[in-house]
Amino acid sequence: MEKIIISPSILSADFMNLEQEIAAVKEAGAEWLHIDVMDGHFVPNISIGIPVVKSIRKKTDMFLDVHLMIDNPEKYIKAFAESGADLITFHYEATTEPEKVISLIKHYGKKAGISIKPKTKSEEIFPFLNSLDLVLVMTVEPGFGGQEFLHDCAMKIPSIKERSPENLIIQVDGGINNITSKICKSLGASSLVAGSYIYKSNDYKKAIESLI
Ligand code: DX5
Ligand code: ZN
Repeated sequence: MEKIIISPSILSADFMNLEQEIAAVKEAGAEWLHIDVMDGHFVPNISIGIPVVKSIRKKTDMFLDVHLMIDNPEKYIKAFAESGADLITFHYEATTEPEKVISLIKHYGKKAGISIKPKTKSEEIFPFLNSLDLVLVMTVEPGFGGQEFLHDCAMKIPSIKERSPENLIIQVDGGINNITSKICKSLGASSLVAGSYIYKSNDYKKAIESLI
C-alpha cells in the first residue's frame, strides 16, 4: 500500500500551548500540519487566520497544509502564501472561479488543493484534476472538529482516484479515527486529516500510528 500522509489538525489542539502541541505531533511522527481557517461566512464558525499561520511558520519546519473554509478565497491567496503555507486548499463552493484560484496559488509557488463539501458531487471537480496537487474530500460538514464520519462522502474517493493523475493526493478530512482511516485507505485515500482523534488522545504517537 502507498504511504499515507497524516496531517494532524490543530483545531483540536490546546491553543494556549500551540508551540508544544505542534512539536508534539512532529515528535510523534507527523510531517504535515493541518491548519483550519474559518471565516464565519462560508462556515458557521471562526477559527484562526494569517497572523497565526505566520507565527507557526517561524516555529516549525513541518509542511503547512492550510485548509481555507472562507468565501472568495482569491482575495487571500497572496497573504496565505506569504505567511508560509506550503499547500493551500480552498473550497470549490466558495468561489465562482476555481481555475483562477488554482493559478494564483501556483503563481505564488505553493501546492494547490481543492475541497468539496459533503453535498458536492465529485464530477464537479473532474475538470480541475490535472492542474491540482491535492483533492480534499470532506467527510463532515466543514466548520467543527469532533463530528461523526459520513460514510457516503468517502464513496467519492474511487471515482476521483480513477480520473486523477498518478501523483495527485486524495485527502480526507472529518471524523477520522483508527476505524474510518481503514475505510478511506482501502478506497484510495493517500492523506488523512485528524483533529480530535489525535489531540484528544493521551498518546499522540499511538494515535498517529493507528492511522497509518
Ligand atoms: C472541520 C475541519 C477539520 C477538523 C477535523 O471543518 O476541516 O479539519 O479539524 O476534526 P476531526 O478530526 O475531529 O473530525
Ligand atoms: Zn480541515
